[in-house]
Amino acid sequence: MASAPASPPAVAPSAPQVPAAPLLRVLRGERVDPPPVWLMRQAGRYLPEYRALREAKGGFMELLLDPEAAAEVTVQPVRRFGMDAAILFSDILVVPWAMGQALAFEAGEGPRLTPALKDAPLMLALQAMTTEAGKLAPVIETVRRVRAALAPEVALIGFAGGPWTVATYMLAGEGGNLEAARLAAYRDPLGFRALVDRITNVTIGYLAAQISAGAQAVQVFDSWAGVLPPAEFDRWVIRPTAQIVAAIGHLAPVIGFPRGAGQQLARYVEKTGVTAVSLDETAVPDGLPTSLPVQGNLDPVALLAGGEALDRALDQCLARFEGRPHVLNLGHGIDKETPVAHVEQLLARLRAR
Ligand code: CP3
Repeated sequence: MASAPASPPAVAPSAPQVPAAPLLRVLRGERVDPPPVWLMRQAGRYLPEYRALREAKGGFMELLLDPEAAAEVTVQPVRRFGMDAAILFSDILVVPWAMGQALAFEAGEGPRLTPALKDAPLMLALQAMTTEAGKLAPVIETVRRVRAALAPEVALIGFAGGPWTVATYMLAGEGGNLEAARLAAYRDPLGFRALVDRITNVTIGYLAAQISAGAQAVQVFDSWAGVLPPAEFDRWVIRPTAQIVAAIGHLAPVIGFPRGAGQQLARYVEKTGVTAVSLDETAVPDGLPTSLPVQGNLDPVALLAGGEALDRALDQCLARFEGRPHVLNLGHGIDKETPVAHVEQLLARLRAR
């Protein structure tokens, strides 16, 4: 016998309407005054409470892979400063780690990925590597815990590296050496394309998992986008970013951060379809659609300097984005020597407007 028809849906309990987090409203194209604020690398070494927990855990990777500790570090700057968003505490290099490279952060030396892919033919190296997405499960658990701990008006941002930037680290085995990736892209375009495609696929799965665990927006950090000539920029920055947006853009807003893109910024925005763009401190918004949400641009060195220079930089930043949907942020990560008092100064001036 057919079961009885389900009773009509109960009237939705009149839950108080929670207004969307200001950051998410801006990413939907609204202007909010004063603009919502968070800072790239807001969880990190300039905070004594971060340094204490990192020391207690014994290292950066130990901290990152401990969901309870990583969630605590993610929330620290929100608790201390009342930031409008938390950014997941993780690193862009966990993707190469899940793809099979060993990852180590030695104090004062920056990250090391081994074996560096520059030392072998890329196709062979890729054949020898297996992705284990399950290694990223602790990071996804961190997302879940942070979302549960945050107030509804505080947005949670997930992130990953841009495939080009991640490839530069995988090739060189360390940061800042771009030559290995630039050469491989010319000398072995098929192998390099296979590498970038694999990074892109792993990144799509990783970001989708962050979103299902509670990330409400994601940022793609392409820190080394600025070194490529236009045709290479299209191939290695725009194309993979467009693939990421096509795959997950319907799940959550995507903030693109093509650091140093300069004259290629408007093309990046148009061709990738990112929801919003984060500008480095040298960028100008001219040529970007005025409806496009913009983030960043404040010089991290002005924050390090503090005083009148910081006040001036903030005022100029607010004036530059007048009339646009705007998220206040830095043009790059906060310098680890930045006094906490300078962050307080920035927020006090912003909120006094
Ligand atoms: O607060 C946040 O912004 C969230 C966490 C976050 C980290 N790294 C933590 C971290 C984010 C978003 C990143 C992104 C990242 N990581 C990028 C893209 C942004 C950028 O800065 O251009 C890049 C290129 C990396 C790779 C990376 N991780 C490098 C080169 C280094 C060493 C340099 C440094 O600042 O020490 C890291 C280490 C790292 N990632 C730290 C933190 C807090 C410092 C680790 C420590 O505690 O010693």
